[in-house]
Amino acid sequence: MNNSDIISKTITFVKEQLNNAEGGHDWFHIERVYKNALLIAKEEVCNLQIVQLSALLHDIADSKFHDGDESVGPKVARRFLESQNVAGEIIDAVINIIENISFKGGNFEKKFSSIELDIVQDADRLDAIGAIGIARAFNYGGFKNRVLYDPKIAPNTNMSIDEYKKSQAPTINHFYEKLLLLKDKMNTETGKKIAQERHQFMEKFLSQFYAEWEGVK
Ligand code: ADP
Ligand code: NI
Repeated sequence: MNNSDIISKTITFVKEQLNNAEGGHDWFHIERVYKNALLIAKEEVCNLQIVQLSALLHDIADSKFHDGDESVGPKVARRFLESQNVAGEIIDAVINIIENISFKGGNFEKKFSSIELDIVQDADRLDAIGAIGIARAFNYGGFKNRVLYDPKIAPNTNMSIDEYKKSQAPTINHFYEKLLLLKDKMNTETGKKIAQERHQFMEKFLSQFYAEWEGVK
C-alpha cells in the first residue's frame, strides 16, 4: 500500500472511532490539527508520513474518557497501524509521539523528542488558542457545567489552592492556567508565528469580555 492509501484508510478509521466524540476532540479537531501539521511540516526537514499518521491518531482515545488510562490511545493506534502493515519503525515513531504530545506531558521532562513530535504538538496547541481555542474552552466549560466567569474566583484572588480546586473554576480561568501560556511553548518558527497572532486575539477577547462584564462597552 502506498502512503496516500494508508492515509485515507487512517482518515476513515479515525472518523469512525471519533463518531460520538465530544465537541473538543471530534473529527474536526483532528482535521484542523492535520492541516496545521502539514502547513508547519512544509518549513521543516521531517518525515511527512510520521507527521500525517501522528496528527490523525493523536487523540484516538482521550484518557479523560477512559478513567485516566493513558495507554488506551497508543494501543488502539498501534493495533490499527499493524493491521495496515505499516513499517515497524514508523509505528514506533508515531506511538512515541502520541504518548508524548499532551500538554500534561509538556510540564514534565520530555522523555522523547523528534521534529515530527514538535510539529504535531505545535499543531495541536494552535487548536487550543485563538478563536477556535476560545470556542473549545467554553464548550468544555459548558460540558462540565462551569460558569463563564466569576470575579470572586478570579486567578488573582487570595483563595487557597485547595479552595480553588474545589470551586469548579470558571472557564475564564483556563485562559490563565493554559491558553495564554501556550505561545511560549511553541517548538517551530511557523508555530510561534501563528501562535503570536492567535494569542493577541485572545488578549483582545479578554479585555472586551471584562469591559462588557462591567457594562461599559
Ligand atoms: P488536548 O486536545 O491538547 O489534549 P485537552 O484534552 O486538555 O487538550 O482539552 C481539550 C480542549 O478543552 C482544549 O481546547 C482545552 O483548552 C479545553 N479545556 C481543557 N480543560 C479545560 C478547562 N478546565 N476549562 C476550559 N477548557 C478546557
Ligand atoms: Ni488534540
